[in-house]
Amino acid sequence: MRLANKVAIVTGGARGIGQAIALHLAEAGAHVAICDVQSGIETVARIEELGRTALALQVDITRESQVKDAVEQIMAKWGRIDILVNNAGITRDGLLLRMKESDWDAVLDVNLKGAFLFSQAVLRPMLKQREGRIINIASVVGLMGNPGQANYAASKAGLIGFSKSLAREVASRGVTVNCIAPGFIISDMTDVLTEEQKKVLMDQVPLGDMGLPKDVASAVAFLASPDARYITGQTVNVDGGLVMD
Ligand code: NAI
Repeated sequence: MRLANKVAIVTGGARGIGQAIALHLAEAGAHVAICDVQSGIETVARIEELGRTALALQVDITRESQVKDAVEQIMAKWGRIDILVNNAGITRDGLLLRMKESDWDAVLDVNLKGAFLFSQAVLRPMLKQREGRIINIASVVGLMGNPGQANYAASKAGLIGFSKSLAREVASRGVTVNCIAPGFIISDMTDVLTEEQKKVLMDQVPLGDMGLPKDVASAVAFLASPDARYITGQTVNVDGGLVMD
């Protein structure tokens, strides 16, 4: 129980990788708030089955007032926030020549501005506690680029730069900030790929297979644990060896 009685927030925790992260943190002992535009009640029910408390809050992370309200409700319930996982993310793919401004804005708003708003909102309690973990879910696409994903790549590369800057701002107060860069993970986001597209991608992965949401979740649980106390400003790739730097 490395996270016994810690309080965690997982954005986008209603399904997919975020749901796996929330369950993994709960298995390690944490109480978890799910902040998602979709209903997080299924994730909450599964966390409660594990004997932990949980809260599902319907939040659009691009709206500052909604984010602030959510953090207030979480503080009212548990009185502290130890872990924030900025996981919610979207894609609006298209080649740059034809990319609509609205598709650029939507992806940057959710993937980057959402993480900014949530990090800012939890910072006060974390700095007061002199302890906290912020873990941002980036992507290998933010490191290597991908045709048709200029908006997504920009948002994820931005998240990595954001994390390094914030890590430097808050390190002296006991708060660490790290990123995880998943590769190709089985989820609704990658379900849209054809078998042929998947095969082309898999040929580039040294471990030769797609990852599972729980592979990302284990890395998050490690970064959230006391074992990772001396790690900040880093990006951990969970990608089967796709990117090696
Ligand atoms: P998903 O699409 O299955 O889940 C994303 C969740 O975020 C959904 O529950 C959705 O409702 C929520 N969400 C979207 N917009 C929101 C908003 N404005 N406010 C609150 N919640 C919002 O995606 P998946 O695959 O689970 O991805 C999770 C994260 O992992 C994302 O940041 C994604 O970019 C990243 N990632 C995923 C990879 C993959 O292969 N699936 C690879 C690399 C990174």
